[in-house]
Amino acid sequence: MAYVPANGRFLPTALYDRSIAITMRERAWRPRLVRDVLLGEPSDVLDLGCGTGTLAVALVGAPGGARVTGIDGDPEILDLARVKEGSERVDFVEGMADSLPFADASFDRVVTSLLLHHLQPPVKRAALAEARRVLRPGGRLHVADWGRAQDPLMRVLFAGLQVLDGFSNTADHPAGRIPGMIEQAGFLGVRRHDCLRTVWGSFELLSADAA
Ligand SMILES: C[S@@+](CC[C@H](N)C(=O)[O-])C[C@H]1O[C@@H](n2cnc3c(N)ncnc32)[C@H](O)[C@@H]1O
Repeated sequence: MAYVPANGRFLPTALYDRSIAITMRERAWRPRLVRDVLLGEPSDVLDLGCGTGTLAVALVGAPGGARVTGIDGDPEILDLARVKEGSERVDFVEGMADSLPFADASFDRVVTSLLLHHLQPPVKRAALAEARRVLRPGGRLHVADWGRAQDPLMRVLFAGLQVLDGFSNTADHPAGRIPGMIEQAGFLGVRRHDCLRTVWGSFELLSADAA
């Protein structure tokens, strides 16, 4: 399957927020991600693969007054985002991660949570290159997604996610290839801020700089 929707290959998109609330320990990482993204007071933030807009709404509601754009390839999930409380201040755009409809150097931050494992390796690479292209010099990329398993249990749990979301698009994550792919897209200084145990395996918060 080329396009993997928010809730994977078998579960309805309408249940996405509930699935994530049950399985993803959101309070352990979303508020931290919002703080990290807004460090340095960016003016323009892009949420790449924004889904139902949970992160975009939190970003636009936080102090600092950043303009927030959310982009996603699925019109159904953008309909859910647009009715979320606080979403009227986010600019939601339909578009694909590997061909962003924005000019070069349009944003100070690009953040992408739970998107990369949906993308086939060449699309992942193209999406990271697009993130680099739309970032201004001195800008920063933040990635929240699965990484190398901390232990055998985390690897077994990740296999369950692979059944739901697909195997070829997720294989780079437990193999630990995401930081290298970020560097190959032209970013510097990839940092791992945290690695959380979840019911779907080891979940990492990464960031890197646009030179
Ligand atoms: C698991 S959801 C993550 C949503 C949100 N970022 C979050 O943190 O809850 C993955 C999202 O990526 C979107 N997506 C998948 N492939 C995409 C692509 N090639 N371009 C743009 N969005 C894509 C899906 O529609 C879905 O909304």
